[in-house]
Amino acid sequence: MTAMDLAYNLLVALHLLGMAAVVGGWVAVRTGRTVTAPILWGARAQILTGFLLVGIASAVKDDEHVVNNTKIAVKLAIALVVVAVAEIGAARARRGEDTGRLLDIAGGGATVNVLVAALW
Ligand code: HEM
Repeated sequence: MTAMDLAYNLLVALHLLGMAAVVGGWVAVRTGRTVTAPILWGARAQILTGFLLVGIASAVKDDEHVVNNTKIAVKLAIALVVVAVAEIGAARARRGEDTGRLLDIAGGGATVNVLVAALW
């Protein structure tokens, strides 16, 4: 395994852990409750690790690293909604305000992105 493969695979691992933080956090605190810190940081991590994965995959361009730009655009759009509602929900929670359904939108959106990643 080259150093680039190792870096890429470590980013995939971080990407999966970020996903686990958002989806697992959502399930753990259950629907409609507060956006917790791991959910917010997981949502932020997905954008960063996702971009780095795309960057490396685009640079390498072999059979193992194929980038589907349409799929990535859809995932990025959903991930931006996820991080936006997580930021707003966490800020409201810090002020002791009701977070409404923001957590469900974040957790549900991340779940949709798992389906896009796995089924597209
Ligand atoms: C809530 C946000 C996101 C979730 C839950 C999510 C989830 C996932 C999952 C479950 C995988 C499959 C990993 C595997 O095959 O082992 C994956 C792969 C991938 N994701 Fe995301 N993702 C998110 C956001 C993003 C964003 C914003 C980007 C790019 C800007 C991105 C780029 C990628 C890439 C390039 C892969 C392929 C990794 C590989 O080579 O297997 N993801 N994502």
